[in-house]
Amino acid sequence: MAVSSSSVLFLCLLSLAQPLHSLSASPYLFPSTLFDNYEKMLTTFRIYMYTPQKPFTFTTSPLSLFHTSLLNSPFLTQNADEAHLFYIPFPPDLSTRSRARLVRHLRISYPYWNRTLGADHFFMAPSGVDSSSDRNAVELKKNSVQISIFPTASGNVIPHKDITLPPVNPSPLALVQGPGNDTASHLGFMVCDGKLLEYNYLVNEMKRDPEFRIESEPSDHVDLVKESKFCLFLYGGEMTWMVEAMALGCVPVVLVDRPVQDFPLTDVLRWSDMGLLVRTRGGLKRLKAVLNGVGGDRYQQMRELGVAASRHLVWNLEPQPYDAFHMVMYQLWLRRHTIRYARREWV
Ligand SMILES: *[C@@H]1O[C@H](CO)[C@@H](O)[C@H](O)[C@H]1NC(C)=O
Ligand SMILES: *[C@@H]1O[C@H](CO)[C@@H](O)[C@H](O)[C@H]1NC(C)=O
Repeated sequence: MAVSSSSVLFLCLLSLAQPLHSLSASPYLFPSTLFDNYEKMLTTFRIYMYTPQKPFTFTTSPLSLFHTSLLNSPFLTQNADEAHLFYIPFPPDLSTRSRARLVRHLRISYPYWNRTLGADHFFMAPSGVDSSSDRNAVELKKNSVQISIFPTASGNVIPHKDITLPPVNPSPLALVQGPGNDTASHLGFMVCDGKLLEYNYLVNEMKRDPEFRIESEPSDHVDLVKESKFCLFLYGGEMTWMVEAMALGCVPVVLVDRPVQDFPLTDVLRWSDMGLLVRTRGGLKRLKAVLNGVGGDRYQQMRELGVAASRHLVWNLEPQPYDAFHMVMYQLWLRRHTIRYARREWV
């Protein structure tokens, strides 16, 4: 007894003695379970895909990469009895009404939907599905796992179950360069295509400030990214190069005035330690105060965690271990524990 209580005390003292920031110096929310659980997924996870009614292709890139990678993966099974999850391959441009009709067809034709009312099913919809009063559409939205593209319109995501796909990087070559040395010459860099008019006042303020570089084209900006401490994104605007920014050692700052609940890999990555969400109210003065308030050690750690996390957000034509495809599969794996109701028969 005496031995164990003194060793507990010793451990407590040890952790108190550590500098605060290193307590969470991992890009992962659950570093102690992630890797074992991931390996278990690779050998065990099985998905049953319903046969599409008509052949179709996805045209937007993260959806088509995910769909194709899944089809070519060992995760698919023809045996529904061993499946953990069921994939409904909706064509990408389907209306809510057509989705509801297809769910009704699955409910009547197969025994699987009724067992969980859709909770062990997943589907893809580029910008998420909105509300509907049709019973089939309601169950799909409330119970099934939706995969959409980040960022998704706010009412169209249910955070505890839905998943967003990281965007496909517009310039993949930049990703292999790695971060430059930490000698930033700008406080902030942003690509702003001018579509989000509500932020114009802030963007105009930034354009006049020599500590910021604002470009209107998402063209070749690798050097600017490397020379900037922070890379700024208007939530809902041009965000496709966010992963590139992280990989190049530029800490991402998302400017947004409401809570954001749809970050990619949100239940895997410790986003709060590798990026900032900043409100735009308060203008440039407040923004600069927030950015300048991120001190040396904390900044350095954010930068390093972002670089480490970026590899999980990268899509590959041939999926690689722990890349975006496999991490989205991992998120699905985390969502496989649903209760299947036994069919109640009257006797
Ligand atoms: C699923 O339940 C509905 C009623 O909610 C029923 O109409 C349908 O036939 C059931 N499906 C199967 C395959 O038994
Ligand atoms: C890295 O920093 C050194 C000075 O410390 C500088 O001479 C060099 O050009 C920098 N390299 C890059 C790629 O920025």
